[in-house]
Amino acid sequence: MTFSILPASERDLPEIAAIERKVFGDPWSTQSFRESFGHHAMYFACARRDGGQLVGYVVAWFAAGEGEIANLAVDPSEWGHGAGRQLLEAALSAAAARRTTAVYLEVRESNARARRLYTSYGFEEVGRRRGYYRRPVEDAIVLRRTLEVKDG
Ligand SMILES: CC(C)(COP(=O)(O)OP(=O)(O)OC[C@H]1O[C@@H](n2cnc3c(N)ncnc32)[C@H](O)[C@@H]1OP(=O)(O)O)[C@@H](O)C(=O)NCCC(=O)NCCS
Repeated sequence: MTFSILPASERDLPEIAAIERKVFGDPWSTQSFRESFGHHAMYFACARRDGGQLVGYVVAWFAAGEGEIANLAVDPSEWGHGAGRQLLEAALSAAAARRTTAVYLEVRESNARARRLYTSYGFEEVGRRRGYYRRPVEDAIVLRRTLEVKDG
């Protein structure tokens, strides 16, 4: 299945916040998402099905050659259809366009689904933050993907 990846906007926030609350025990607030608008370093996009339904989103930032995937989620009813993959690809393309050479992210140790996705995109484990997550408390695994900056 293919999805359209589009810039997120203020009017998408209720749908984004609803997905966020479904999938994370310690969800971002709507205000945290709102603060991701308007910063030149931020990349905030959502995935929509043909009919327009918002099924997922990604928030990332890129600055001074480095970046981070800060949030990525897909509505559970849409898991396994490729939206997560497409959102991650879009963020990595944005990273490359902004001449980013290293992209980092944190993932719960037990989150096998997300870890498989990241591994398949060349992310490698570079560290661990003990007790980083709340509800439930769990270690974060820090992953890094390096990108080649092309001349020109
Ligand atoms: C992680 C997440 C974004 C993946 O979204 P998705 O739309 O289901 O992902 P895709 O359909 O594009 O699948 C991408 C990869 O995820 C993994 N995956 C998908 N379904 C899976 C399953 N049932 N079991 C294990 N891994 C699975 C596979 O590696 C898959 O690649 P493949 O299709 O080549 O097998 C989604 O599960 C999610 O929102 N999870 C909750 C929030 C979260 O954990 N976010 C990441 C925080 S760091």
